[in-house]
Amino acid sequence: MNIVLCDSPEQAIRFAADTICRQVAARPDGVHGFATGGTMDQLYQALVPLQRQYALDWSGVRSFNLDEYVGLDADHPMSYRYFMRHNVFGPLGMQDARTHLPRGDARDLEQECRDYENAIAAAGGIDLQLLGIGKNGHIGFNEPSSSLGSRTRIARLSQDTLAANQRFFPPGAFQPQWAITMGIRTILESRQIVLLALGEQKASAVAAMAEGPLSAMCPASALQMHPATTVVLDPEAAQLLRLKDYYRSAYSPGVPSP
Ligand code: PGA
Repeated sequence: MNIVLCDSPEQAIRFAADTICRQVAARPDGVHGFATGGTMDQLYQALVPLQRQYALDWSGVRSFNLDEYVGLDADHPMSYRYFMRHNVFGPLGMQDARTHLPRGDARDLEQECRDYENAIAAAGGIDLQLLGIGKNGHIGFNEPSSSLGSRTRIARLSQDTLAANQRFFPPGAFQPQWAITMGIRTILESRQIVLLALGEQKASAVAAMAEGPLSAMCPASALQMHPATTVVLDPEAAQLLRLKDYYRSAYSPGVPSP
């Protein structure tokens, strides 16, 4: 795991956005794994204007999102498809047909999960998977106790996650309690992973992920098994790490991984 300690949230966001842009520049027909959530929203706001600076053409990029709520169709304003279309795919000039999210309103949800795994494999796998991390250590909607060998499946959201995500739903609106999520094994098959975490609320999950035991109680700890994961942190998210001096000596923002 490359741990990148940034001096500010802005620097961390910019570092993650630059990594994505370099990947698109190197492979304009590559396969990107996207995520959603408040952290990713900030990242996408930084990413969209960078396409001009890097002179990027996103029209050939293919993408797979980590997850989608069960029960919301693609036009529902709280669906992840809706968010991605309006905030990412459209502004980046991606082709809708090249973007994939699980269909939360599929009639046969089990089949939808199998089809999603097959579609990722048919695309040749994911080149660069973006991740956030939940306060409880989840990645995607792989909540604590998820099998580290799990694949795309229907998952129940934990009470922690429901409470954390309530802020995105208007008062009184239906908040889904189930989602389709890539599994941990699915995520680990990505060739490269970039995880971005900001703020002190993430500090204990980040410490458990990077320095705790490999455990289903912290699903993100499975990334310890991945050969090419970069964890990008602001100072607050990094505050509980014990090996900060080592990480600083081993890796600095802007300097290529040794
Ligand atoms: P957040 O979510 O960025 O909204 O905190 C991250 C996650 O739950 O993966």
